Amino acid sequence: MNYDLVIKNGTIVTAAGHYQADVAVRGERIAAIGQDLQGHRELDARGKYVTPGAVDIHVHMQMPLGEGVISADDFFTGTRAAALGGTTTIIDFVEPEPEQSMVDALAARRAEADPKVVIDYGLHMTIGPAEIAKLEQVPAAYEAGCTSFKLYMAYGFRLNDGELLQALEAVRDVGGWPVIHAENWDIIQTLIARNLAAGRTEPRWHPRSRPAAMEGEAAGRAIDIAAYVGVPLHIFHVSCQAVVERIHAAREQGLPITGETCPQYLFLTWDAYDAPGVEGALPVCSPPIREQAEQDALWQALSRGHLQMITTDHCPFTRADKARGLGDFSQIPGGVPSIEMRFPAIYWRGVRSGLLSLEQWVNACCTTPARLAGLEGKGDIAIGYDADLVIFDPDQRRTLSTETLHENVDWTPYEGLEIQGWPHTVLSRGEIIVEKGDFLGEPGRGRFIHRQ
Ligand code: URP
Ligand code: ZN
Ligand code: ZN
Repeated sequence: MNYDLVIKNGTIVTAAGHYQADVAVRGERIAAIGQDLQGHRELDARGKYVTPGAVDIHVHMQMPLGEGVISADDFFTGTRAAALGGTTTIIDFVEPEPEQSMVDALAARRAEADPKVVIDYGLHMTIGPAEIAKLEQVPAAYEAGCTSFKLYMAYGFRLNDGELLQALEAVRDVGGWPVIHAENWDIIQTLIARNLAAGRTEPRWHPRSRPAAMEGEAAGRAIDIAAYVGVPLHIFHVSCQAVVERIHAAREQGLPITGETCPQYLFLTWDAYDAPGVEGALPVCSPPIREQAEQDALWQALSRGHLQMITTDHCPFTRADKARGLGDFSQIPGGVPSIEMRFPAIYWRGVRSGLLSLEQWVNACCTTPARLAGLEGKGDIAIGYDADLVIFDPDQRRTLSTETLHENVDWTPYEGLEIQGWPHTVLSRGEIIVEKGDFLGEPGRGRFIHRQ
């Protein structure tokens, strides 16, 4: 039988194992896995891995921060960079205006994304303080395909504990999945004020105003409230051992609590904030990047399965935007770019060093994010799944820099990092969108994933 396309002779890597076989695609789906399959088009993957397309459930494209500041990747440039790094599905966010219904805000966000995306995408619905008065809209948002709900314990969107309780109850009642930014805002505000009053205005005071222990406290509190309500909870961008311990303790009790970390916490340390001028402001993100010991603890947590996934929290701001906060670290727009390097860099630092197995790499970057976020047909190589596939060349070397990456931003926190292993060819629903490292996709070819 002839298939549309067959990837031949590669080593298939899934969360469950790795083995040599061909993968056949018919239309948009994986149609067969086996030996000596034949297709109208055949791609030779000898000496390469064939993985599921990577899944990044935490990104912020063209995210407005106010005063004209907006994250620098739009839905085209950001998804193109994602694809070039082997990511074929993302989840971004809907942030309703105070007077806007959740469903109207979803339609508005889709109108921004649909013409631009080159890979498939979903959206998390944000429940901020203004949404607490409209929690009866949660079922409609769920029906419209937003089955996950973002809650903040920091920033203007933050919920107090009573509001958190109400939001978690509403998400529980529709069978949704809450995801949370856990930090202790009151303590952060107090420490920021104290540091600024003492003339400590440089970026190095950003992590020193957001202690790891208080990130742990906030995560523990959120977990306790979720357990009381009886709902799963996913902790975003875990930066430290204090949060890992809370997640692990909850899971030991059988609670459906999960956590993710991100490349910035796995590759950088807080020394980056000591760089002079705007350089020290560039890596500002929240939670902050921490000491080497925290980085080591996060790798250990991934290795032991105490953290369930790696996302990016991709949220780039330009040098000019970052410079707005020089003189007051608390005004530096928070967020860093990582969307293109995540999948290959985790292979390089994780798998090549022996910290992670091939299966753990794929599980953390593809399979578990897809499963937990309800992305049906994504994140695995199995018959009937979407033919989102990466032919990954473990030998290809790349030096990360603004010259070699495709994110729409004039810096990268990984400048000069030399890694080995990079996507050679990327398929999205059977279509080759990256071939030999060249981007071939068209804006608007990606689809909104109406999650169930
Ligand atoms: O500083 C960060 N992480 N910015 C992106 C928004 C968020 O908190 O996830
Ligand atoms: Zn966050
Ligand atoms: Zn984020």
